[in-house]
Amino acid sequence: MNALTVIEQPLVPLEQLTRKVLARTAAVGVAGVGYVGLPLAVEKAKVGFSVIGYDRNAIRVDQINNGLNYIGDVDDRELAEVVESGRLIATTDVAKLSRCDVIVICVPTPLTPNLDPDISYIRAVGELVAAQLHPGQLICLESTTYPGTTQEVLLPILSAGGLTCGEDFFLCFSPERVDPGNARYTTKNTSKVLGGVTAACAEVGAAFYRQTIAEVLVVSSPKVAEMTKVFENTFRAVNIAMVNEMAMLCARLDVDIWEVIDAAATKPFGIMRFDPGPGVGGHCIPLDPFYLAWKAREYDFHVRFIELAGEINVQMPYFVRDMIVRALNRRGRAVNGSRILILGVAYKRDIDDHRESPALKVMDLLALEQASIEYHDPHVPSFNDKGRSWHSVPLSDDELKAADCVVILTDHAAVDYARVVQRAELVVDTRNATRDVRGGTTNVVLL
Ligand SMILES: NC(=O)c1ccc[n+]([C@@H]2O[C@H](COP(=O)([O-])OP(=O)(O)OC[C@H]3O[C@@H](n4cnc5c(N)ncnc54)[C@H](O)[C@@H]3O)[C@@H](O)[C@H]2O)c1
Repeated sequence: MNALTVIEQPLVPLEQLTRKVLARTAAVGVAGVGYVGLPLAVEKAKVGFSVIGYDRNAIRVDQINNGLNYIGDVDDRELAEVVESGRLIATTDVAKLSRCDVIVICVPTPLTPNLDPDISYIRAVGELVAAQLHPGQLICLESTTYPGTTQEVLLPILSAGGLTCGEDFFLCFSPERVDPGNARYTTKNTSKVLGGVTAACAEVGAAFYRQTIAEVLVVSSPKVAEMTKVFENTFRAVNIAMVNEMAMLCARLDVDIWEVIDAAATKPFGIMRFDPGPGVGGHCIPLDPFYLAWKAREYDFHVRFIELAGEINVQMPYFVRDMIVRALNRRGRAVNGSRILILGVAYKRDIDDHRESPALKVMDLLALEQASIEYHDPHVPSFNDKGRSWHSVPLSDDELKAADCVVILTDHAAVDYARVVQRAELVVDTRNATRDVRGGTTNVVLL
């Protein structure tokens, strides 16, 4: 053999995969194309990756393939463009994931009826992915879960076929931090935290995310990344509960909590603003701290802050119900038979998500008192809850005048609060949405 002959070594899976990721020729699969998965799929497709969105919901799959958007944070035009160019296709056929070099798992992580973590979706998708796992694949879990899930649950499922993690395939946890409705921080410009099962996993995982996100912080393990996510959400849950408790106290002391918060927020250090409200909602804040509490119990550890925060936040819809009852009573009315118009059922401003929304609880509590209830929400035209179909009524002057009480539960920007205050007889405002309404606000009862 000539001394100068170079012997070509076959590329190991890590090198092969890293090359494809950096060249953006890697095929990307996103399992679960909901609030987290669809924005991610669109961002990856926009930079040139060929993306397959796998979901068992055939309606969502059809919508994507027709270029129709169903997630508020996704730009309609951008979705249509990546679908039209063929860079994003959706499917209900899991077999298509076998073509993917990278698979990102974004399935739900709800609670069971007794508030234990329900990771059955992660397990189910993990098994589907395991059935087609082949050397050179990167699997990233994004679903929020308790510390340990990636290594204790997903890794054994994926390794069962005999492939070695860190050599044949790569596994990371990188939580999604998307804040629905937040126009400033989106999937694209919110920094990411990532933990790999091995150093090679972290290396290729970070390379993948850096194709679309400038700042990717690699932490020492998936467990640290998992803990970071539940810590972030617990931080919010606890602080919201603290300000909600202060609001209930201020109501007793006859002090305006909003004035207190505005004043406290002028301190340039040592304080962070949280606003009170009718309770917490969505897929994260009411649920995720329970994931941590459940894991803590395995270690004989009782996370008292989480339980206390949960207790206070769960009480808020009852406090709001009592505010409404008192406000009507002061006008000589009983809640029984009163017409109540709810403004906003989404769990927060300018989004269409009503999952776990405290508005639903407030409506239930008022229905128990025989109130006649309607709602208006510019982002939620209709919804089903406990077997009943609800439809948003137009926010007409007639509707406002006919209501015995208008209750603002979500402070959507599209609503003209000055008109609401002018036309309605009585307004219970749980979000301080009427703060800028000038003159004639004596009919407003503020949380
Ligand atoms: N929504 C948020 O603001 C947010 C923010 C950060 C993190 N998260 C976390 O991200 C995860 C996903 O949340 P989401 O809000 O996107 O949920 P989602 O319900 O909007 O979307 C999940 C999707 O997964 C699909 N799915 C469920 N099981 C499946 C299966 N076996 N195979 C294929 N598809 C399946 C569902 O049909 C759905 O379309 C959760 O763990 C959540 O806690 C959510």
